[in-house]
Amino acid sequence: LSGGRRLAVIAIDGPAGAGKSTIDTGAMYRAVALWARRQEVSVTDMHRMEQLAAAASIELEPGGRALLNGEDVSAEIRTPEVSAAASQAAAIPGVRRAMVEKQRAMAASASVVMEGRDIGSVVFPNADVKIFLDADPAERTRRREAETAGAPSDLAAQLRERDERDRTRAESPLVQAPDAVYIDSTGLSIEQVEEEILKVIRAKLSNGKTFE
Ligand code: DC
Repeated sequence: LSGGRRLAVIAIDGPAGAGKSTIDTGAMYRAVALWARRQEVSVTDMHRMEQLAAAASIELEPGGRALLNGEDVSAEIRTPEVSAAASQAAAIPGVRRAMVEKQRAMAASASVVMEGRDIGSVVFPNADVKIFLDADPAERTRRREAETAGAPSDLAAQLRERDERDRTRAESPLVQAPDAVYIDSTGLSIEQVEEEILKVIRAKLSNGKTFE
């Protein structure tokens, strides 16, 4: 808190296809996994994975583009191979440490809406607003199918496997923070999800907080 300026952090966590999307921290784990594949570093090599994660320059642009070491990798990080490798990379404590450091730096000079798996629980335990956004598995699979050109036939199984790993890993698993508001987006439109989230934010603001 410097000079009365108060920046806001809004944390949104939830499983794949639940309807998140803002500062997309999943893209960061995906970028590290992509770089490892290109360098032929195995995701089981924890030491080298941590080195790559610390050395990676990752930029997330407002329009949704992801840059890895200055190169636009937005499309390449969305393949099924990179999805699986990102989930494995995200279980490595050193990789998580490096990503959390970058995420905290992103919120040091600007208000942010950040989504992931551990934003409300680990990265910003003092976030001003915490949302846990969920949807039932069949609906999440349908959404992923709709957004993935040439979606694999075993997409539902892949999603289940990744969810299971993200929820049960030892380091920062996907959990709802105790003070997060749970929103089920099954059957809601994007506009309806937005309205639900705005209600939560307005309730916080009416408690006397103002943000820049
Ligand atoms: O949100 P996504 O599906 O693009 O995330 C890719 C992988 O990264 C996912 O399997 C979980 C992991 N992840 C994480 O562990 N922590 C985050 N804050 C964001 C993503």
